[in-house]
Amino acid sequence: MRRVSLVVNGARHELDLEPRELLVYVLRDRLGLTGTNVGCDTSSCGACTVLLDGESVKSCTVLGVQADAAEITTIEGLATNGELHPVQEAFHAEHALQCGYCTPGMVLAAVGLLDENPAPSEEEIRRALEGNLCRCTGYHNIVRAVQAAAVG
Ligand code: FES
Ligand code: FES
Repeated sequence: MRRVSLVVNGARHELDLEPRELLVYVLRDRLGLTGTNVGCDTSSCGACTVLLDGESVKSCTVLGVQADAAEITTIEGLATNGELHPVQEAFHAEHALQCGYCTPGMVLAAVGLLDENPAPSEEEIRRALEGNLCRCTGYHNIVRAVQAAAVG
């Protein structure tokens, strides 16, 4: 076991983790943040995407102990004072989800993109989201939502 300190959605957590524990399961099973989904467990689908020190990462590719001292944002941490994050609003307004399974990861990947590049082209959006798979929407409305959040 190794003691790690994580700041998740603004709250500090001290946890004793086994070195083999993946960050996605630390978030889901130890902290109860089940908004971060597991789609593949093999870094293919992006359902588990979170922000790690401001960068979007697939949390099934990160060990919990590697995140020691990091700041993490999950889908539960995006809204503030009951107000959805602009990217969440745009996904809602543009009908960018159906079953919703990919949505938390997709939203976090989009937030990571817009933090880095506030006015991406359509091609840049598609490239930034290519590691996030959606089986429902055909991606078109997702791209429109990110464009709407970018200009909004
Ligand atoms: S569960 Fe992490 S990429 Fe699919
Ligand atoms: S909305 Fe169903 S997988 Fe994307």
